[in-house]
Order: sequence, then structure tokens, then C-alpha cells
Amino acid sequence: MSEPLILGIESSCDETGVGIVRGNELLANEVASSVEQHVRFGGVVPEVASRAHLEAMVPALERALATADVDLSELDGIAVTAGPGLMGALVVGLASAKALAAYTNKPLYGLNHLAGHVAVDLLDHGSLPTPAGALLVSGGHTELLVVNDIATDIVQVGGTIDDAAGEAYDKVARVLGLPYPGGPVIDKAAQLGDPKAIRFPRGLTTRKDLEKHRFDYSFSGLKTAVSRWVETRERDGLDVPLNDVAASFQEAACDVLTAKAVDLCEHHGLTHFLIGGGVAANSRLRGLLEERMAAAGVELRRPRPGLCTDNGAMIAVLGSEVVKKGGKPSSMDIGANSGLP
Ligand code: KG4
Ligand code: ZN
Repeated sequence: MSEPLILGIESSCDETGVGIVRGNELLANEVASSVEQHVRFGGVVPEVASRAHLEAMVPALERALATADVDLSELDGIAVTAGPGLMGALVVGLASAKALAAYTNKPLYGLNHLAGHVAVDLLDHGSLPTPAGALLVSGGHTELLVVNDIATDIVQVGGTIDDAAGEAYDKVARVLGLPYPGGPVIDKAAQLGDPKAIRFPRGLTTRKDLEKHRFDYSFSGLKTAVSRWVETRERDGLDVPLNDVAASFQEAACDVLTAKAVDLCEHHGLTHFLIGGGVAANSRLRGLLEERMAAAGVELRRPRPGLCTDNGAMIAVLGSEVVKKGGKPSSMDIGANSGLP
């Protein structure tokens, strides 16, 4: 069989994504974000996100088909995020995918959003030698994984015991009076600050923590430390050096994220490592990982930042892997599973 031509739909959070791939080749990736509508609430409002998906889905679909110059009849399958994510948001993507599958009589593949964040790297760097390590860092998840097979066998080895990394970025941004989503804004501010200005705590790194939580993360202590530091300054009538706080927070977060990733590779003898999820767009995380993985002799694969945040192409390329592995299509009754592991 030639490389499968797959259309992928993503709607788990606040991005409506429609992507089209042929095997590992990216043909179209249309993303409409409702993030502007959530800014004043300081976080994603599920009802607002669902309504925005309804409005954005058909136009995104039309644009993707036009960009890829593909007719629906040529597709080999329709892939869609089945979970995890916001229930009402997922339902819009699933209903759209089912309608398309029914109309075109093509197989439907309900897929895991998180596996999509891992698979998306194939579009930039081709097939992945396995087993490989992976760090998935997004607004809702922070996980260390061993990937034995992208389509069928991804094992979680560790993860956050409290906040996700992206959540920590978003919360710290709020403490600093910066807008939502905080990740990109802190990333920018940090580039103007001194990462050594303030020594913030590195979660789960004491000898005792490592015994039980060697590959786990914790960011709530870091977030609290930043907000205490800022409160103290304000109470004492001192100005808050925003760029330095952002850089020092980011340094603490990226230090632990990368150190444990390297430890995972060494412990499991992994020679390849990839990153995915919105926070994988972070400049310091990318830079520090590059340094530390090179020192450990591990080949690092970093998808371009625009593919790290939620999009349809990541679901399409995961679908293509599933088709190539002979995976079974989903039933037309498949429902959204907001808590999919
Ligand atoms: O993967 P994603 O687009 O959506 C989820 O599935 O959660 O990730 C969104 C998260 C947000 O918390 C956002 O602040 C963070 O990714 N993010 C970043 C950067 N760009 C997005 N965090 C740090 N640095 C960035 N450059
Ligand atoms: Zn995501």
C-alpha cells in the first residue's frame, strides 16, 4: 500500500485543528484558536471552547482540503481525538469526524491526543528508532514515556504528582500579572531576565524524593515559592523584577524537566529522545535539553514549535501510523473519553 492519506481532527481544548498527511508528509495543518475568547477569564472556559469549535470546524476543514489539494474521496481514513480533553469540546470533533466518515464511507480512527503529541515529530524527522524516550509537557499533562511503538505501545514511566508544567507556567504568569496563556509570555520575558537571580526550588529532587519519585515531577511547590517571593517584595514596597522572576522560575522548571529526562535515557539505555506538547515550544527547555542530551550521547528530536501546540496534523500522522500497523478502525458508536489515560 502507498503511504496512507489521512485527515485528522483535533478539538480537545481550545484549538480547532484539521490536518492532512500522506504518511509522514504534512500536506495541510489548519488551526483556529479560541484563546482570545478565554483571556479575560484567565483560562479555558469549556462552554466557550465548544461553541468556538462548532463555528470553526467546517471552515478549517474546507481550508485544509483546499491547501492540500485533496478531495474527500481520495482519503484513506479520518482520524480524530477521542480523548483526553474537555468533554464538550471533544464531542464536536468526534461528531464532525463521524459525519465525514459516514458521508465518505471511509474508516474512522478515534485516537489518543497525547499519543498525537508524540507522533507529530514524524512529520519533521521521519520514523523514530525505538525504544525511545519522550517528554510530554502540555497544559494538562507532564509525562515521561518510553515509546516502544508510536501506534500501539507507549508506556508511562513517570509524571507530575500535582500541576502540569504548562499549568505552572500559566499560574505563575497570573501571579506576575501576565496574560493567559502564560507559557509564551514567560518564555519571552525570561529571555530578558537573569535565570540565576532567584534560586527557586526544584521539585522531587532530594535523595529521599528520588527513592519514590525518580521519574516524577512536582510543580506546585515551585509555583507557591514564586508567589510567596512576589508577595514579600510587594509587601515590603519593593518593585518586582518581572523578567528575573520569569527567568528564575523557568530555569527551575526546565532544570528538573531535563535532568529527569536524561536520567530516564541513561536508566533505560535509550539512544533517542523526543519532546511534545505545548511547553515543548519553550526556548529554554529546547536549549537545555539539547545541551544535556548531547552530553549524554542521546539524539534529541524536537518538532518545530508550531507543531508542539495542539493541531490536527498530529492526529492525522498518528492515524497514518495506526493504518500502517493494520490497526482496526473505531466503531461509529465511539464516544468521547475525557479521562483517556
Ligand atoms: O499542548 P497544548 O497546546 O494544549 C494542551 O493539550 O494542554 O499546551 C498548552 C500549554 C499552555 O499551558 C501554554 O502556556 C504552554 O502550553 N505553552 C508554553 C509555550 N507555548 C505554549 N509553555 C512554555 N513556553 C512556551 N513557549
Ligand atoms: Zn495537547
